[in-house]
Amino acid sequence: MKTAIYPGSFDPVTYGHLDIIGRAAKLFDKLIVLVSTNPAKPDCFFTLEERMDFLKRSFNTLKNPENIEVDTHDGLLVDYFKKREADVIVKGLRAMSDFEAEFQMALVNKDLFYKAETVFLAADVTGTFLSSSMVKQIAMFGGDISAFVPHTILTDIQAKLKIKKQK
Ligand code: PNS
Repeated sequence: MKTAIYPGSFDPVTYGHLDIIGRAAKLFDKLIVLVSTNPAKPDCFFTLEERMDFLKRSFNTLKNPENIEVDTHDGLLVDYFKKREADVIVKGLRAMSDFEAEFQMALVNKDLFYKAETVFLAADVTGTFLSSSMVKQIAMFGGDISAFVPHTILTDIQAKLKIKKQK
C-alpha cells in the first residue's frame, strides 16, 4: 500500500492542482491532499476551513476521488509524513521557474527524513500558466475565472474577493 502526500497552500485550489490530484490518485493507493503552512505566505486570503472545503467540493470533477483524503498540518511536512507512514511527497511542476524552489524543498525534506522521497509530476500543458495568485487577481478585478476553478466553488471565491475589493 503506497501512500502519497500532496502538500500545498491551495489558496484556492485550481484546475492545475486538480490535474495533479487526479493523476497522483491513480498512481498511488492513497493520496492525502495536505493543506499546509507555507511560512513564505503567512496571510492566505482564504481561511484554512475555506481552503479545505473548496478542495473537498472540487473532487466531484475527478473520476476517482475514492482514495483521496484532505487533511491539514501546521508544522514540518516530514513530521506529518512520518506520522502517516507515507511513502512519497507529490509535487506538480509547471515550469522551470518552479523547479529551483521545488528541488530545494525536495532536498531539504530528504535531508530531514531520509525516507521522504519527492516525485514530480509535470503539469498538464493547459495548467502551466495557472496559479492561485493569478486566479485571485483576475477575480478581484472582475475577470472570468470559470476556466480555472470548478463551478462548485466559483461563486464562493468570487463573493469573498468582491467583499475584499469593496473594503
Ligand atoms: O502551495 P505552496 O504554498 O507552494 O506549498 C508550499 C508548502 C506548503 C508545500 C511548503 O511551504 C511546505 O512544505 N510547508 C511545510 C513546512 C516545511 O516542512 N518546510 C520545510 C520544507 S522546505
